[in-house]
Amino acid sequence: MKARWLITNGVYVITANWNGRLNGMAAAWVTRISAEPVLVAVAIWHENLTYRYVHGSGAFAVNILGEGQQELARWFGRRSGRQVDKFSRVEYRLGPTGSPILREALAYLDCRVVFEKAFGDHTLFVGEVVEEGIQGKGTPLVYRHEDYFSPEEGRV
Ligand SMILES: Cc1cc2nc3c(=O)[nH]c(=O)nc-3n(C[C@H](O)[C@H](O)[C@H](O)COP(=O)(O)O)c2cc1C
Repeated sequence: MKARWLITNGVYVITANWNGRLNGMAAAWVTRISAEPVLVAVAIWHENLTYRYVHGSGAFAVNILGEGQQELARWFGRRSGRQVDKFSRVEYRLGPTGSPILREALAYLDCRVVFEKAFGDHTLFVGEVVEEGIQGKGTPLVYRHEDYFSPEEGRV
């Protein structure tokens, strides 16, 4: 057990549209960082395909998942868009930045990238919220490592 594993996080799907191609990944390392303007930050591993899409398009959407949506998080978080079209199985529309908004998401923030910098093995993207919306009733999903990863996979 490590102290850093006790930081609480929600569960999100970060989506992006790079020249008409869509991809997305589950993310837990998401936070707000400014009240006015409304800024949010997400840390994305360099090897993820979504890193290329967000870097290339300069935009992303934060889809906030609700309680009971672990399966949706696994769909976006346990496989890469290099192997499968993750949007073949979900309903979505495009937000003002062009990033996909998942119909099932509890809420969303459509963001334009205003800052990007690599820190260690992840890149921090800061997004200014262009549009936000609530799409359902319910409580946000809280991240629990064991919902997504087996004990053998370890934890960083
Ligand atoms: C619940 C959950 C949370 C995750 N959080 C993050 C995260 O904050 N940052 C990150 O880079 N990867 C995170 N991942 C891993 C990516 O979602 C995963 O590597 C994904 O397959 C990348 O897909 P892509 O190659 O299509 O971008 C998380 C995975 C899960 C299941």
